[in-house]
Amino acid sequence: FGRQLHLYEAVDSTQTVLRKLAEEGAPEGTLVIAEQQLQGRGRMGRTWESPKGKGIWMSLLLRPNLAIHYSPQLTLLIAVALCRSLRQSTGLPIGIKWPNDLLVERKKISGILLESTAEEERLNYILAGIGISVNLEEEDYPAELLDKAISLRMLLGRKLDRTTLIAHFLKELEHLYDIYLREGFASVRTLWEALAVSLHQRVTLTTPQGVIEGVPVGLEENGALLVQLDDGQLKPVFSAEMGLPDS
Ligand code: BTN
Repeated sequence: FGRQLHLYEAVDSTQTVLRKLAEEGAPEGTLVIAEQQLQGRGRMGRTWESPKGKGIWMSLLLRPNLAIHYSPQLTLLIAVALCRSLRQSTGLPIGIKWPNDLLVERKKISGILLESTAEEERLNYILAGIGISVNLEEEDYPAELLDKAISLRMLLGRKLDRTTLIAHFLKELEHLYDIYLREGFASVRTLWEALAVSLHQRVTLTTPQGVIEGVPVGLEENGALLVQLDDGQLKPVFSAEMGLPDS
């Protein structure tokens, strides 16, 4: 991954740039990195602040030969690879909040946005958009984000080299992706569950169908979060915004 590298000073969104390259036939592993995004996008239609030179704003192209219903598994796979590589690089106790936010002490340090296209129920390509708050300082955050988000620099008290972090991540992802394609989801699931901060405690999940309260107990084979409801029933959840309990 990353052998085809496209570096930009400023783009609207690395997802838009990579989409165009993908449509033109770019190979798997193509990576778009920008110093700054003018219209960075987050999940659920939110904007993603991407100040110049302060973070890792990048999009990676995957072309797995898989049916479309595997894309939740790929989301979790990328979160695991990112979490493991950042833990190794920084020594910080980074955890995963389902499905794929990375947190330290309940504050978000990284987010992942997966966009995919499919033809006849098969995945055509996946744009894995990754934002990591590396060297942001307090003044780079809007006031309302300061209790929800933090950067690696703020946590460690020093600046980090972005290239090293990217290199570690790409190596870890290549390794796990290879295992996943050969052996399936089982080992990714085990790794994800070990890193998850959102298991075995009561959470609220805002789904397109309404709000659910319950205790997540693990992942299903298809990548859905299994939530135990108050009546004991186990409910698979595919897409939701998770609220952690106040502590
Ligand atoms: C989220 O947590 O809501 C996902 C954030 C994803 C941000 C990254 S930054 C690089 C890529 N380009 C974008 O416009 N978004 C993703």
